[in-house]
Amino acid sequence: MLVIVKDTYEEMSKEAAKIVADRLRKKPNLVLGLATGSTPLGLYKELIRMHKTDGLDFSKVTTFNLDEYIGLPPSHDQSYHYFMWENLFKHINVDPRFVHIPDGMATDIDAFCQWYEDEIKRAGGIDLQILGIGANGHIAFNEPGSSLGSRTRIKTLTKKTIEDNARFFPRKEDVPRYAITMGIGTIMDAKEVILLANGKNKADAVKAAVEGPITAMVPASMLQMHRKATIIVDKEAGAKLTGEFENYG
Ligand code: PGA
Repeated sequence: MLVIVKDTYEEMSKEAAKIVADRLRKKPNLVLGLATGSTPLGLYKELIRMHKTDGLDFSKVTTFNLDEYIGLPPSHDQSYHYFMWENLFKHINVDPRFVHIPDGMATDIDAFCQWYEDEIKRAGGIDLQILGIGANGHIAFNEPGSSLGSRTRIKTLTKKTIEDNARFFPRKEDVPRYAITMGIGTIMDAKEVILLANGKNKADAVKAAVEGPITAMVPASMLQMHRKATIIVDKEAGAKLTGEFENYG
């Protein structure tokens, strides 16, 4: 793992955007794995700026999002479909035919999950996967205890995740209980991953993921086994790391 600690959220976001733009310039038909949540918003803002001012071209990019709540239609303002269109896709020149987000309204969830895995394969695999991390160490909706080899499937959200996400819903009862999520095995198959984390409420999760043992109880710790993982954090999220950064990687 390469660990990069930046002073601020803005610098963290710009560092990630630089990597995405570099990969995209080298491979215009990049297969890009995308995440939702508050963490990648700065990255998406910077990518939009690069598109508008530097002509960064997304027209040949294929995207796969990590997850979606079950039971929320794309028009719901808390669905991840809505999030992605509002915060990134509608501002860049991505081809809607190349956008993939799990279908939270799928009637046959198992068949949908298999189709999603097949689509990733058909696209040639994910070149670069963007990740956030939950305060409980989750990646996507792979909550603590998730199988380290898991594939795209339905997961039950933990109490902690429901509490963390309640801020986006009128009432805690409105937070969906289930989600479709890429598995840890799916994420590990990406050729490169970037995990972003900011803020002091992520410091324990970052510490456990980077310097703790590899355990299903901290799903992000599995990234220690990835051949090309970059962890970019702000100072607050990196505050508990004790390793010498020159020695990571
Ligand atoms: P956040 O969520 O970016 O809103 O903190 C990250 C996550 O839960 O993976």
